[in-house]
Amino acid sequence: MIRRSDFPPGFVFGTATSAYQIEGAARADGRGESIWDRFAATPGNIADGSDGSVACDHYNRWEADLDLIHSLGVGAYRFSVAWPRIVPAGTGQTEQPGLDFYDRLVDGLLERGLEPHLTLYHWDLPQALADQGGWLNRDTALAFGDYAAVVAERLGDRPVTYSTLNEPWCSAFLGYLTGEHAPGERDLRSALTASHHLLLAHGYGLEALRATVPEVKAGIVLNFSPAWPATDDPADIEAARRHDGFFNRWFTEPLFRGSYPQDMLELYGELAPRPEDVDLQLISRPLDFLGVNYYNRAVIRDDPAQPLGYAHVRTAGEHTAMDWEVYPDALKELLVQLHRDCAPRELYVTENGAAFDDPEPIGGRVSDPSRTAYLQAHLQACLEAVQRGVPLRGYFAWSLLDNFEWAHGYRKRFGIVHVDYATQERTLKDSALWYRDFLQGQSIDSSSALVTEPRISPR
Ligand code: FCB
Repeated sequence: MIRRSDFPPGFVFGTATSAYQIEGAARADGRGESIWDRFAATPGNIADGSDGSVACDHYNRWEADLDLIHSLGVGAYRFSVAWPRIVPAGTGQTEQPGLDFYDRLVDGLLERGLEPHLTLYHWDLPQALADQGGWLNRDTALAFGDYAAVVAERLGDRPVTYSTLNEPWCSAFLGYLTGEHAPGERDLRSALTASHHLLLAHGYGLEALRATVPEVKAGIVLNFSPAWPATDDPADIEAARRHDGFFNRWFTEPLFRGSYPQDMLELYGELAPRPEDVDLQLISRPLDFLGVNYYNRAVIRDDPAQPLGYAHVRTAGEHTAMDWEVYPDALKELLVQLHRDCAPRELYVTENGAAFDDPEPIGGRVSDPSRTAYLQAHLQACLEAVQRGVPLRGYFAWSLLDNFEWAHGYRKRFGIVHVDYATQERTLKDSALWYRDFLQGQSIDSSSALVTEPRISPR
């Protein structure tokens, strides 16, 4: 059974959210349109036809939400800043009320003894920049650098970490290859171009952070899809390596080695980006930490009929409501491997969690034993990685609240706190109660968390 005291002193536990998924107030205080407002307005793009215009109304309820976070006993909160609130047209004029909001949020966290962990870009690009090509336009990377400087000048060294981007793989490949995310394009060359400009934006953003808040930890958050061959057939092993190149190494190698993976450059041929030399120097500047988002692994088999020559295999194991396999061991292996191959100074698990088809609250309770088990098992994986020498400094459960889950709308619930979208009432799920007990040092297992109100006796 896992206990908080098994983790090293200083290891931080938190929860995470992102701006577009929870804030709502899409037209308040001069906020500009984002690509997600535009994308969600097109019928067919979002499963339930919804959008983020109200979401969890966090923009108006932030104080109560901070009290809620504090009540969980976590030490940290990861959130993102909405670029369209700060620079509504993407470049040029800044909007003070938008900056004021995050200023108050950061102070509100600090007043409650919570570490602010800030992400500058969690997918909500100002639509005005999309109108000029979005991530296909190199200038968007420069605009991001300017925006990063504006935020850092205002918030200074109060956030404990600044992350430039959240999951550039999703922005590039879901946004420009599969069309599942804004802006909804479907072209490999575009996706590869976008990925390069996103990495370049990271580079400019990092430069701006170093210049403005040199004493603050700066990094990037990547999502990983650890690739496991379906069999030990060399063709499957090679296929798994290709998936690793497509998904993981396409970002880690430029960031940590200053070059795109050679095998992928060969595979993409003339579709591959042609970076200027200085680009890769900028992209590979040293980071203070790497943020790791992990949900599931990919089991891969060779399939020459597919565009990249491989296919995903659905395993017999437990799956979440997203149909993502529950496989905590891959998180441990991932952390160990990143430490070995990329050697970031520090790592955080910046997102980890699961959507399940939770029951509605009954008598103020939501029974979600599968989510509790998921969190426990993945915390155990983190602990094992720490024991194997990985400089992992913290863990953030995704997500604090049920929220707008992108193309799935409100149908997929990742929160440890249930949100009734009609009333905006928040109800702690049993997984949140378990997390709270765990953080208070209770040695309970998940089954006892389900039947008892937490017995709080801090050590
Ligand atoms: C990640 C995203 C986050 C949320 C979770 C479920 O890819 O960063 O916003 O959608 O998945």
